[in-house]
Amino acid sequence: MDSYLIQVTGKSAFPSVMDVQLGRAGRGPCCVAGKGKGHRKPHWAVRASEMSKRTFNPIRAIVDSMKVEPHPQKPLISLSIGDPTVFGNLPTDEQVTQAMKTALDSRKYDGYAPSTGYLSSRDVVAKYYSCPEAPLEAKDVILTSGCSQAIELALAVLANPGQNILVPRPGFSLYKTLAHSLGIEVKFYDLLPEKSWEIDLKQMESLVDEKTACLVVNNPSNPCGSVFSKGHLQKFLAVASRQCVPILADEIYAEMVFEEGQSESLAKLSTNVPILSCGGLAKRWLVPGWRMGWILIHDRREIFGKEIRDGLLRLSQRILGFLKSNADLCYSALSTICGLRPVRPSGAMYLMVGIKMEHFPEFENDVEFTERLIAEQSVFCLPATCFEYPNFFRVVLTVPEDMMAEACQRIQQFCEQHYESAQDMECDK
Ligand SMILES: Cc1ncc(COP(=O)(O)O)c(C=O)c1O
Repeated sequence: MDSYLIQVTGKSAFPSVMDVQLGRAGRGPCCVAGKGKGHRKPHWAVRASEMSKRTFNPIRAIVDSMKVEPHPQKPLISLSIGDPTVFGNLPTDEQVTQAMKTALDSRKYDGYAPSTGYLSSRDVVAKYYSCPEAPLEAKDVILTSGCSQAIELALAVLANPGQNILVPRPGFSLYKTLAHSLGIEVKFYDLLPEKSWEIDLKQMESLVDEKTACLVVNNPSNPCGSVFSKGHLQKFLAVASRQCVPILADEIYAEMVFEEGQSESLAKLSTNVPILSCGGLAKRWLVPGWRMGWILIHDRREIFGKEIRDGLLRLSQRILGFLKSNADLCYSALSTICGLRPVRPSGAMYLMVGIKMEHFPEFENDVEFTERLIAEQSVFCLPATCFEYPNFFRVVLTVPEDMMAEACQRIQQFCEQHYESAQDMECDK
């Protein structure tokens, strides 16, 4: 049987559609012929692709290598997973569930949908996000399997192998994972904790070169919980405009902000910079398992059908109140702890905490710090090395309030047990 041979040509290390040829011998999930005409001696040679080998998830790599054996006398509090459904305290709205059930019961959606999604669904997403400054129509919306696929498609359409993208540090690890699997180089621009995680715009601009395919921005941010001001977004857009580089805006936490009116969509502020805005239902609407995401092709936005919209609005307001109070609780509690430096969040569902490592000489780094926190206090936070930002850890804020308080207390106890004040340095609290 003939097999498809993928030739990796000299021009690029990565095969393109043009390189796929019908051939006789080849590697891949097929029988491989032996040498010599007429002496075909097949044997199995199934190999993982080069692309799969380039695909690396640092969170998995770090977490899987951590010793996560909680203290036997303390129930585990996991502040590590950005899934708002794990504790069952933040169910989605009944109207949302009902709408899904109605859709299923109608039997109208059991068949294949168009690859970009049903026009009616794209239309409601378009209406939800459309505004006079950035009008959207159904044709500008592409539905995807979660925001993750939206990011993957956006990267794949903007960048060729060998080009580079600029991504935030600390930042969500998926950008680098996807980029590397696509053969795209990643350059990190810095976020500044002392400026509520604003972008170091000068440093970012210095990274742009002729191979830069896009700037990736994540606002509100995972892992920082920061929300950029309008002025800062305008300055960011000015860099993109000056350098003529398009933007991939990961806005999965859009409108998840603690102060009303604080969240700005980038597209609304842009006059000329093209933007692919990636989003989805996972976080704000508390249904990550539904895998519903989208790409908005530039300056657009608006509504999700009246019934859903009303339900979602009420819901989002309820969750945000909860998240803000948990953020306040956590920030206040951790601020009093010697050796820790939490950065107050203003959106999303995370809080980053700096560890003054010089006061914890027992631990080599944030991974060891968080490992021991699990072992001794059964509190699981992700070391920020997962986000390319050592000496911090990330706290997830979606846990029930009593658990949040308990976790903070245990973190305090842990720090008290391990804190060592340097000779000339007293606790600054
Ligand atoms: C910043 C950011 N972007 C994208 C995603 C992925 O979203 P989804 O679950 O819809 O694929 C996440 C998930 O945690 C995220 O934090």
